[in-house]
Amino acid sequence: MDLGLRGKVALVTGAGSGIGRAIALALGAEGARVVPTDLKGDTAEATAQEIVARGGEAWARTLDVTDFAQAQQVVREVVARFGRLDVLVNCAGAWRLNLFVDSTPEDWDFEVKVCFMGVVNCTRAVLDQMIAQQSGKIVNISSDAGRVGEVRQAVYSGAKAAVIGFSKAVAKEVGRYNIHVNCVCPGYTKTPATERYLTPELEARIVKAYPLRKLGLPEDVAKAVVFLASEGASHITGQTLSVSGGYSMV
Ligand SMILES: NC(=O)c1ccc[n+]([C@@H]2O[C@H](COP(=O)([O-])OP(=O)(O)OC[C@H]3O[C@@H](n4cnc5c(N)ncnc54)[C@H](O)[C@@H]3O)[C@@H](O)[C@H]2O)c1
Repeated sequence: MDLGLRGKVALVTGAGSGIGRAIALALGAEGARVVPTDLKGDTAEATAQEIVARGGEAWARTLDVTDFAQAQQVVREVVARFGRLDVLVNCAGAWRLNLFVDSTPEDWDFEVKVCFMGVVNCTRAVLDQMIAQQSGKIVNISSDAGRVGEVRQAVYSGAKAAVIGFSKAVAKEVGRYNIHVNCVCPGYTKTPATERYLTPELEARIVKAYPLRKLGLPEDVAKAVVFLASEGASHITGQTLSVSGGYSMV
């Protein structure tokens, strides 16, 4: 099935690792012209090189999503180079595992800034171009933590829930311009971030809570994102799709 992504310009944040990297690769495989971005520019560049090595087109940029001016600048550069911007995937994220009573205001600020304000900054940065084009697809990576709450991730869960509410509100405001805004909520997914603390015992315990009895892979999330970024999702906006082996059913 042709998803209609060939030649589309797609900016992915947090594309240097894990889920964002898999999304960038998957969009590249569909023929999109991909702009992998990351706080760590060298990792975004590595993703771009991988896309090109697989026969795709990519142009990496360094982007700290907490910096609105930087997001605006990267969008200006992308539009100057390609003349348009069709897809934004907000995937950059980070978290610290601790009980809420043990966390500090600095932890709260960090998680809200990256996980929520990062989405706000990048979304605002692309909207003028998408409104001018009268088209655009924005896919925000939230989390099942934002739907059901996760122990040791209280403020992160709140920030991810905020992403869902924000996405719905923006979807209502910009639908008239043919701009779609949807959320994907991964459950526990094996990435460099989670593999830092995932022991075989912990994995066995988590898997029991997942009806499909397995943890997700970055590629599982990427498939859903590619669909929502494609023509296949031509009449879908304001929706929240869990990719979590059935962990949350809401
Ligand atoms: N892995 C999971 O189990 C899981 C579950 C639910 C949701 N998520 C979400 O998926 C997304 C990707 O997570 P992952 O597991 O692939 O993590 P990861 O650490 O492997 O990748 C995250 C990337 O985001 C980048 N990043 C961090 N702060 C940034 C900033 N300020 N600006 C730009 N880039 C920044 C990092 O450098 C890294 O390359 C996150 O939003 C995360 O909250 C992950």
